[in-house]
Amino acid sequence: MTSAVSIRDMSVIYDEFAALDHVSLEVTQGESFGIVGESGSGKSTLLRAIAGLASFSQGQLTVDGRSYSGSRRDQEFYRTVQMVFQDPYGSLHPRQTVDRLLLEPLVIHGFTDIETRIHRALDEVGLGAGFRFRYSHQLSGGQRQRIAIARALILEPKILLLDEPTSALDASIQAEILNLLEQARRDRNLTFVMVSHDLGVISHMCERLAVMKSGKVVETVARDALESRSFSADYTRQLLMASEGFRRD
Ligand SMILES: Nc1ncnc2c1ncn2[C@@H]1O[C@H](COP(=O)(O)OP(=O)(O)OP(=O)(O)O)[C@@H](O)[C@H]1O
Ligand SMILES: [Mg+2]
Repeated sequence: MTSAVSIRDMSVIYDEFAALDHVSLEVTQGESFGIVGESGSGKSTLLRAIAGLASFSQGQLTVDGRSYSGSRRDQEFYRTVQMVFQDPYGSLHPRQTVDRLLLEPLVIHGFTDIETRIHRALDEVGLGAGFRFRYSHQLSGGQRQRIAIARALILEPKILLLDEPTSALDASIQAEILNLLEQARRDRNLTFVMVSHDLGVISHMCERLAVMKSGKVVETVARDALESRSFSADYTRQLLMASEGFRRD
């Protein structure tokens, strides 16, 4: 099994506070890997450290066979790895047209078949060419998240880092976006590293998951283990109960 993302003993420190505390994990190529944990447990920090948006002071990071340190990432990295954020309002510039948003990464990376790619990208996320010259402030939250996904996919990355990609959306739209992501993953044989505070979403989307608490990985379990309740940490049990809602038993 080839490794897509390998993290060894990684720490991210903010003013002596370890937001990420000696974390190790392996994500295999083609796998959909989940990260869960309570608020503040370090889930976003982990994705940001992979993406180079947070600098790690210790440990090793290997992505698609290449090693990276600190927060330096090269062009090749962004051809391989793209990130989708929770808040499609914050992550897309409101005064840019969809066309501009999709064009930008293509120009930066020197693509020439721009027309074809923009059309294909809009089709793939179920919006179509009619959306091409809309401003992002003229889109609904779900449509914006589709554009954010189109923008991430347009460079044909191998790995998507997804930080709560549907948490800002209501339940029916959430399911649509998750299906869209799952379809893209199958069609393109993508690797996902997906963060959610919702174990239901993660167990639906991911084959394996890491459970985080206070900047550490408490345990890594397979989806089946979650379903049969065969995990070791009490904390995982608590998260599971919280996701399933309150019970009167
Ligand atoms: N730039 C920063 N400077 C200082 N502290 C930070 C910074 N970014 C994150 N932290 C702290 O690191 C810890 C982990 O934050 P992180 O955003 O990774 O949590 P999270 O698991 O994604 O939480 P949530 O589910 O609420 O999104 C928190 O205590 C947070 O306050
Ligand atoms: Mg977060």
